[in-house]
Amino acid sequence: MLLNLTILPGDGIGPEVTEQAVLVLQAVAAAFGHDLKLQHKNIGGAALTASNDPLPPDTIQACLSSSAVLLGAVGSPAFDHYPNHLRPEAGLLRLRRELGAYANLRPAICFPALEDCSPLRSELVRGTDIMIVRELLRGLYFGAPRSITGEPGSRIATNTMTYGEQAIERIARVAFDLALKRRKKVLSVDKANVLECSRLWREVVTRCAKEYPSVQLSHMYVDSAAMSLVQRPKDFDVVLTENMFGDILSDQAGGVVGSLGLLASASIGGAVGVYEPVHGSAPDIAGKGIANPLGAILSAAMLLRHSFQLETEADCIENAVSLTLNQGARTSDIARTGQGQVSTSEMGRRVVAGVRN
Ligand code: IPM
Ligand code: MG
Repeated sequence: MLLNLTILPGDGIGPEVTEQAVLVLQAVAAAFGHDLKLQHKNIGGAALTASNDPLPPDTIQACLSSSAVLLGAVGSPAFDHYPNHLRPEAGLLRLRRELGAYANLRPAICFPALEDCSPLRSELVRGTDIMIVRELLRGLYFGAPRSITGEPGSRIATNTMTYGEQAIERIARVAFDLALKRRKKVLSVDKANVLECSRLWREVVTRCAKEYPSVQLSHMYVDSAAMSLVQRPKDFDVVLTENMFGDILSDQAGGVVGSLGLLASASIGGAVGVYEPVHGSAPDIAGKGIANPLGAILSAAMLLRHSFQLETEADCIENAVSLTLNQGARTSDIARTGQGQVSTSEMGRRVVAGVRN
């Protein structure tokens, strides 16, 4: 099969971890007889520096003409004081929108070898296997109007949360379809005691659930879901939620299973899927060669599964990651005191070795 990919390394630790994910993809392609065609393009701060645009036209064209996009991370403190449209993050948001990627899948799995990395007691976190389904193109991130107006001292900032029935229904279907292949439980997270958007959300999700009689649907307010996520993470299966709640809960889920560095994501539903680790650009450790590449590597597995239906190849990467962890390889984020630490590239090399086995 031809695997025609656009690679967007981006900012901070993005290039380091993406490099390892690409090496793993090359190993899988070689092992299974696929043809890997890669195009590297700029996004985020890297693109702002190169061409003053966080998502240059040739980047978006390359993405649209490929079958999937592997992204590292965007974000850099150098652009903190820039207006919104000239921040690295604006490039990522525009990419999601231009590609129509409305469904963000963020699995949070507790690898048996890493039970003791969680700040929670191992018996609480053992067996945790959550799939967060985050709506990615609506809500506060994209709602209009948005502005900061007025004179210094009395300025007013506005953001708008909007959700239409169709946008809720299509993301709900993604969650229910995924639940059918898992433990058949969907928890819909909202703030229906306060927000109109959430009341409509709950109504539409409940209606949609009638088409999935074998799936058990429950609802929770986001504040209470945040508490339960640390009290009993094992009880969660598919978590369906709107854009910003999903942003927050997915980082929290990363903390629960031990490290954000392990979390992968898929942004799908549109013309081309985008796959990226959840961790972000982590400027504090960029360039040191210590970042955990497993989130990026596991994102490459999601890419093979969701954009190419290459289930065996995706499993192969995930098994190689488990094996590598079982053998004791730890980057600094998941190493316990006294445990030896491996570099970004060494971690990648070990996964590649596992793939070749
Ligand atoms: C994420 C990130 C992004 C988001 C930022 C970088 C725009 O935090 O993917 O979780 O908020 O969606
Ligand atoms: Mg986030």
